[in-house]
Amino acid sequence: MDFAILTHVSYSDVKLSRRARFSTVCLHAGQEPDPTTGAIITPIYQTSTYVQDELGKHKGYEYGRTQNPTRMALERNVAAIEGGKAGFAFASGMAAIGAIATLLESGDHVVVSDNTYGGTFRLFDKVLTRYQLSFTYVDTGNLDDTERAFTPSTRMLFVETPSNPVMRLTDLRAAADVAHRHGVRLVVDNTFASPYVQRPLELGADIVVHSTTKYMNGHSDSVGAIVISQRDQDNEWLAFVQNAEGAILSPFDSWLVLRGTKTLPIRMERHNANGLALAEFLSAHPKVKKVYYPGLPAHPQYELARRQMHGFGGMLAFDLGSLEAARRVLNGVRLQSLAESLGGVETLISHPATMTHASVPPDRRAALGITDGLVRISAGIEDIEDLEEDLSQALDLV
Ligand SMILES: Cc1ncc(COP(=O)(O)O)c(C=O)c1O
Repeated sequence: MDFAILTHVSYSDVKLSRRARFSTVCLHAGQEPDPTTGAIITPIYQTSTYVQDELGKHKGYEYGRTQNPTRMALERNVAAIEGGKAGFAFASGMAAIGAIATLLESGDHVVVSDNTYGGTFRLFDKVLTRYQLSFTYVDTGNLDDTERAFTPSTRMLFVETPSNPVMRLTDLRAAADVAHRHGVRLVVDNTFASPYVQRPLELGADIVVHSTTKYMNGHSDSVGAIVISQRDQDNEWLAFVQNAEGAILSPFDSWLVLRGTKTLPIRMERHNANGLALAEFLSAHPKVKKVYYPGLPAHPQYELARRQMHGFGGMLAFDLGSLEAARRVLNGVRLQSLAESLGGVETLISHPATMTHASVPPDRRAALGITDGLVRISAGIEDIEDLEEDLSQALDLV
């Protein structure tokens, strides 16, 4: 697949031809010079309401929760980047996933990737099961098992690929076939990959969600999310729910993410390069027991990664064999920051068992390979030599 070409940009955009390539779309889609001043950058429309011309006559904007030009520019921008019909920006990834769940009705069943983000598991397991929704967690990397998990009540297949933190992949084209054979939607959390690395809608998915907190914004200074959806009926419902529940992205956060997507391609090139280099460095290190990165030929789904992804992303994990060894490295790094989250320009290091996946019960963590010795890295865009030197001195402490 030529990743520079978007196969179905549906937005009509004054500046962009239908053949516009990926980086051009990231920079320009959804944005026109400000009609009042000509400002090249979409302003932050920090307003709660809009003055109407006369009773029953307004400019298409009534109230800040319902419409905001900065947020709408971001929604058009990311919809074009993902190759989707419409985008809906939310206050956080969890708010967005909660909104997607409102497409379900009481009694419905969802098949979910088993090592999905801990917060997603918490929302499904602790909140949505109270509303007569049920969830089955399977390794969606195995599509026979995935299909076996379907019941007559299944209405959604919810997939995260690569999965967090053990970087297991799901074949998205095949997953879309399974979902559609059963007449249900395929929803893909594309946060870990970003649309530079992987565009699920082009592979048959119906809905994509991003925590924009991560690569889309990319600068660790905003929490937010966006849902991109294809089906007209889903788009109508998501627009309704975005307003009805009201978990919208603020104008300032929308502006930050809109700024972030302008540099997504060049940031992702460096994230990809640093991710691969660190995975290779760690694989060769005697203190490291195992490395999880889809760009290593030793990864069991390396061929799928090469087919489905454009580069292998900036996320990797490695096992040091014990909590004590992990603690020494996590406390020993100087340049890398010990913190949750991912996808920012600076490298973060974390301990999934006690941080991102603390809400996952210990037996489930063990089954997924999230051991106490597992360390996760979100490779930033620093010079690789500095990252390797930092890891090297931390590993010397083990
Ligand atoms: C894959 C994935 N999906 C969703 C979320 C939730 O996003 P947010 O923290 O913006 O609510 C996260 C957060 O880490 C994540 O890693």
